[in-house]
Order: sequence, then C-alpha cells, then structure tokens
Amino acid sequence: MAFYLEAGVDCALGDDPVDRLSAPDQPVAALAPAVAAPARPALKPAAPAPRAEIAPPPDVAIESAREAARTAPSLEALRALLDGFDGCALKFTASRLVFADGNPQARLMFVGEAPGRDEDIEGLPFVGRSGQLLNRMIAAIGLKRSDVYIANVIPWRPPGNRTPTPQETQICLPFIQRQIELVNPDVMVTLGNPSTQTLLQTRDGIMKTRGKWVDYDTGTRKIKALATFHPAYLLRSPSYKRMAWQDLRAIAKVLDATARA
Ligand code: URA
Repeated sequence: MAFYLEAGVDCALGDDPVDRLSAPDQPVAALAPAVAAPARPALKPAAPAPRAEIAPPPDVAIESAREAARTAPSLEALRALLDGFDGCALKFTASRLVFADGNPQARLMFVGEAPGRDEDIEGLPFVGRSGQLLNRMIAAIGLKRSDVYIANVIPWRPPGNRTPTPQETQICLPFIQRQIELVNPDVMVTLGNPSTQTLLQTRDGIMKTRGKWVDYDTGTRKIKALATFHPAYLLRSPSYKRMAWQDLRAIAKVLDATARA
C-alpha cells in the first residue's frame, strides 16, 4: 500500500475486487508449456471487469457537453447539469464533483487544472497545500478567499492525479467556458500551464505566457485575463514566487483601475 501511495495511486477503480488468477484473459493453451501437461479442470469463463458506467465516445460527449453547457441559465443550473453529465469518464472514478468555491459575483476569478485528492474528498477546489498557498496569494492583494471565485477546467479528480487526457479536457471545456461567462468577472487568472493553454488558446509554456494580459472572449464580453504560476509549482520552486508576486500586483492594479472606471 505504501508503494502504491507513493506512486500516486490512492484509489481503487472498482468497488469489488477481481480475482484475475481465477479468470485469466489469455487462453490457457497460450500459457501451457510445450510438453503435455496433466489434465486440468475446466476454468470458469472470464468475468467482465466491473464498471459502474461507460462514457460515450469523445466526439459525442464533446457535442453533448456543448449543448448542455449552452442551455445552463445560471451557475446552479450549470452545476446540476454537470452533476448529471455522464460524458466524461473521470466522473466515474472521482468521489464527487468539484464545481467551485467563493463568491459567484466576484470580480476576480481563478481557474486551475483539476482537483487533487483533498479537493475530491471535500468537494471544493484548492483546499489542499496548493490551496493554502493560493489563499495567501489572494490575501497578498488584500482580498479573502470568499471575495474571489475559484474553479478548475476539469471538475473531477483524475485517478491518481494523472494528467487529464486532451479528450477529457475538450469534454469539460464547454462547462468551464460557460462558468466563466456566468460569473462574468472583471479579471480572470489562469493558474499554471494546462488551464492557460486550454482557456487562453496558446501552446506557449507558462514561462512565456505568465504576466501578460490578454483578452478572454466569453462570446458576450471580453474579460482581462492573466496567466500566472500554479501554486503547486510555486511550492516546488519557491524562487518563482517573486514573479508571481509581480503578477499579483498587476492583478490588484487592474482591479483597482476597473473599479474606478
Ligand atoms: N490543483 C488544481 O489545479 N486545482 C485544484 O483544485 C487543486 C489543485
């Protein structure tokens, strides 16, 4: 167990254990030695692996995500739609939906990549170690967590914290796009590479994208958007906190200017 935990595996995919020794995938003949073996009792046919639900093919899921997200008139409706959406396989391995935290009327919105283990347990984004650093980053510009709105591109924890696949990201994208449109903040901050590349449509890495203002077009309004380092990255590489601090000061300045405009 310790080995698995260190490797990042801390959840089982099925509720019931499968005895794979009594149900081999390969025909016994393929495993048999060349010399004639003594007769064995017939094996039971292989049992199908237990699977709670099966997600549809990605193109079907992306289309139905677009359709569902478009019709959500409010954040509550969007959360309910996501909760009932079966198009992303991550839903079936996560414990729960991690939709958002903070103030839905916030002027500042942060978007991360995907929930981790702590978020999956609590059902709230950024509550683990990186969330604590995010809270301090928010406090550094004179705000509280309850003043801002926090969400992720992917609202379900990928098993073992693996990187979401491009298909999973594309399936979840219409929902976070609608979430941003409904919150309609003055400033959106993407945390780290994955959310920056996905939402700000760039292939550049965070070292190049961070600290540069771009317009994020919701379809109904242009929002000022800035990429900065993910707090988990800052925990691993604290020397970049100085640059993150510059980004935070820039965010505070734009919030101040737009409040007075
Ligand atoms: N990392 C993220 O990107 N999001 C969370 O909610 C937690 C950690």
